[in-house]
Amino acid sequence: MCGIVGYTGPREAYPIIIKGLKRLEYRGYDSTGVALQNGGIKVYKKKGKVAELEDTIVGKNLHANVGIGHTRWATHGEPSDRNAHPHQSASGKLAMIHNGIIENYSQLKNELLKKGYTFKSDTDTEVLLNFIEEIKTNNNCSLEEAVRVALKRVTGAYVILLLDAEEPETIIAARKGSPLVIGVGKGEHFLGSDASPMLEYTKEVVYVNDYELAIIKPDELILKNLGNEKITPYIQKLDLELAAIEKGGYEHFMLKEIFEQPQTIYDCLRGRLDAEAGTITMSGIEQYANQIKNARRIVMIACGTSWHAGLVAEYVIEELCRLNVEVEYASEFRYRNPVIDEGDIIVAISQSGETADTLVAIETAKSKGAIILGVVNVVGSSIARASHGGAYTHAGPEIGVASTKAFTAQLAVLTMIALKIANIKGTISHERYMLLLKELNEVPEKVAWVLKNADKVKKLAEKYKDADDFLYLARGYNFPVALEGALKLKEISYIHAEGYPAAEMKHGPIALVDETLPVVFIATKDAYHEKVVSNMQEIKARKGKVISVITEGDDLSTSLSDDVMIIPEADEIVAPIISVVPLQLLAYYIGVARGCDVDKPRNLAKSVTVE
Ligand code: G6P
Repeated sequence: MCGIVGYTGPREAYPIIIKGLKRLEYRGYDSTGVALQNGGIKVYKKKGKVAELEDTIVGKNLHANVGIGHTRWATHGEPSDRNAHPHQSASGKLAMIHNGIIENYSQLKNELLKKGYTFKSDTDTEVLLNFIEEIKTNNNCSLEEAVRVALKRVTGAYVILLLDAEEPETIIAARKGSPLVIGVGKGEHFLGSDASPMLEYTKEVVYVNDYELAIIKPDELILKNLGNEKITPYIQKLDLELAAIEKGGYEHFMLKEIFEQPQTIYDCLRGRLDAEAGTITMSGIEQYANQIKNARRIVMIACGTSWHAGLVAEYVIEELCRLNVEVEYASEFRYRNPVIDEGDIIVAISQSGETADTLVAIETAKSKGAIILGVVNVVGSSIARASHGGAYTHAGPEIGVASTKAFTAQLAVLTMIALKIANIKGTISHERYMLLLKELNEVPEKVAWVLKNADKVKKLAEKYKDADDFLYLARGYNFPVALEGALKLKEISYIHAEGYPAAEMKHGPIALVDETLPVVFIATKDAYHEKVVSNMQEIKARKGKVISVITEGDDLSTSLSDDVMIIPEADEIVAPIISVVPLQLLAYYIGVARGCDVDKPRNLAKSVTVE
């Protein structure tokens, strides 16, 4: 979390930095700040979003060709002007921005306090900055050298960018555990937490690795390890267009991303799934075919919405491949002493590819001999690079903080992986295999069908927007969809919502049911349908409001529901990719109806690079 931007070159730095920060606000928006090299270092910072900083510094002399900027998701110290980045060192000659957490900051702070330092903020960042300055002054060395020495003492995660008033053209950057991309232009360099701030200027980028330090000048990029040895920067070509990160006429990114799903699911299947030939081509999976075939089990590791995708995959893989699957919260997995044997297959699922807990969890599993397959959206991200193989989800940049199109793309990839393994293991009949390929192929058009009825969901949102609580119930493949529906609503409307397996309702949640409680059933036609219908009856009998996601033509469920959201008929294996879409819309429209900032919900960030 936290977004960082930097620029050094002949252009005006401030507009590049501000525009870049706006694109990175998905990473946090508690405060914003910039530091500019303008006859000494000038820092402007403020609590709140980027636009608020812009408003307050109108009319200031912002001319500079070198600068850094930060959008914050608070960890150490409340969101406030004084805790906003950039921080300045005691002498005022250094400025620094930071994404991550310095875990041993209190120890470093105590050392500095004994030496007479005082601090203006509550942040770990200001501590590290002064620690660097102390080394620079004591050793009478360059900033680069001081950073290298300081980082050897630091535990935690970081990307840091530093300016030094004495070297006004240079930005020093270093990374461990948080992302850093450097854009290489002609006589200029751009820095960002991802490539979005530099898209219109260059397509050539360098992804900085952990324990690397960069010295960046307009016409020079030097990469070194912490042992001061030079590393040749590996320049990659970006395959990303500007339009992909803009709203394209939609009111919010979230709505745009919901509506993009027919295309993104299609993009995810394209070139891989051939329903007529009966083939699924996934080279990053195929190369581990033997190991997967002989594996004792698969462990899925993820957080948030990606964890829900893992739960759907558990049902699908166990059914189709007769292979044991466990789904783990990365944050729990990494701090236990998990039993992982050589040859276990780990599937790491992540939209951003930067989630700190997932990243550490896969490193833990790797060290025990597991094979890591990444199901990741952001190309070149840390998790993608840390994985042995896997498959990208190709959903394109997801900017809305609440995940939508990344989730359905994850389900599409995981279903293809399941079908591939089932085929390799011979646990699926040819007829069923061919039918499911066809079903998967038809998902994009079925999702498009659901989206045509978005206005009906909008009306439902108006009707239920004032509820205090929601319950989401389902069974089987749709149970994780209930969890996801509830999470979406919580995230963007701040309404309390819980997802439960429908049968578990009678073990507690049913006590909540009265005439004010909306209960959302995902009751599509599948093997569990009759049971779910019985659960609906139980809610109706207690006067709860029943809102159901049903299959077209299901009159029984319609008669039991106060309101319905309809999806076309689909095999139960692929149904979750479709049934989640009305729930995304419901959450979105309720969030908007309640006046919430749906793209940037309070307290959340899209990329959680702290533990
Ligand atoms: C954050 C985001 C969620 C996301 C989760 C996991 O909480 O707000 O939308 O599901 O992180 O992120 P990942 O990038 O690993 O999928």
